[in-house]
Amino acid sequence: MAITITMGIQKGGCGKSTTTGVLAYLLSKDGYRVLAIDMDSQGNLTELLSKKPANEFVEKSVLEAMQYRDPKKYIVQIDENLDLLPANNFLATFPRWIYTGITYTGDKIKYHGNPSLVLDETLEKVRNDYDFIVIDTPPSLSEQTTNALCASQYVVVLFECSNWCYSAIPNFMDSVDGARRHGRHNTRLLGILRTMNDVRRNDAKAFNEMIEEDYPNEVFKTIITRKAPIGRLSLYGFDQNNELEQALEQYKNFYKELMERVNSR
Ligand SMILES: Nc1ncnc2c1ncn2[C@@H]1O[C@H](COP(=O)(O)OP(=O)(O)OP(=O)(O)O)[C@@H](O)[C@H]1O
Ligand SMILES: [Mg+2]
Repeated sequence: MAITITMGIQKGGCGKSTTTGVLAYLLSKDGYRVLAIDMDSQGNLTELLSKKPANEFVEKSVLEAMQYRDPKKYIVQIDENLDLLPANNFLATFPRWIYTGITYTGDKIKYHGNPSLVLDETLEKVRNDYDFIVIDTPPSLSEQTTNALCASQYVVVLFECSNWCYSAIPNFMDSVDGARRHGRHNTRLLGILRTMNDVRRNDAKAFNEMIEEDYPNEVFKTIITRKAPIGRLSLYGFDQNNELEQALEQYKNFYKELMERVNSR
C-alpha cells in the first residue's frame, strides 16, 4: 500500500508546491511509482508537473475524482513512474459541495460521510497502485487541507523562516493531531523543512534557530535556501530544464533525510 505524505502549512508562499513537485519527481526517478495530488485550487502543482494551464483540467480534476469516487478516471500520466491528480480553481467549491450536495455544475451528488474523509475514501481504489502518494495543500486550514491530512500517514511542514510562518505552526500542528484522532492512518509529523531561506538575513537565522529549539527532533538538517533555479522550476519544470541539477541540489539532501525517516518508522 502506498505511503502517503502531505506537504503543508497554512501560511502562503512557503514552498509547499515546489517541494511537493520536487519530491514527486525525485521519488519517481528513484524507481518508485508515484501519484502526486493537487489539493490547492491555485493548481500550482498541476502546472509545475503537467506544464499545462490548470484550466485545461476543468471537469477533469481531483474535485470530480472525489465527487464521483472514481480517481482512476481523472489521473493523468506525467512520466513513466509519475501520475497526477490535477486541480483548478473550481476546487474552491469543494466545501460547498460537501455541505450542500450540489456541485459547481449544478449536479446533485449528496455526500453522507465524514467531511474530512472524502479524499481518503476516494484514494482507497488506487492506494495499491503506488509506492508513494504526495499531496500539495492550499495556504489555509480548509477542507482541502483536513482531507489531505486525514488521507496521510505522514506530514512534512514547510517552514519559511519568518514570524508569520512561525506563528502559523502551532495551529497547523493541532490540525495534524486532529487528523490523527479522526482519520484512519495515524497521521503524524515526518518533519519540518526550512525553505526559501535567506542566509544573509539575521532574522531568518534567528527563526532557523528558534524552530530547531522548539522541535529539535523534527526539523530536517537540510535547509533549502533561496535560489533562482529553484524559483524558476515554476517556469521550466523538470523536463528539458538546463539548470535542473542546480535546482535539485539541496533537495537531494532533503530527499535522503526524508527517506531515512520513512524507512526507520
Ligand atoms: N528555494 C527557493 N528559491 C527561490 N524561489 C523559490 C524557492 N522555493 C519556492 N520558490 C518560489 O517561491 C514562490 C512560492 O513557492 P511555492 O509556490 O512553492 O509556495 P507555496 O507554499 O506552495 O505557496 P502557496 O501557499 O501560495 O500555495 C514560487 O514562486 C516559487 O517558484
Ligand atoms: Mg502552493
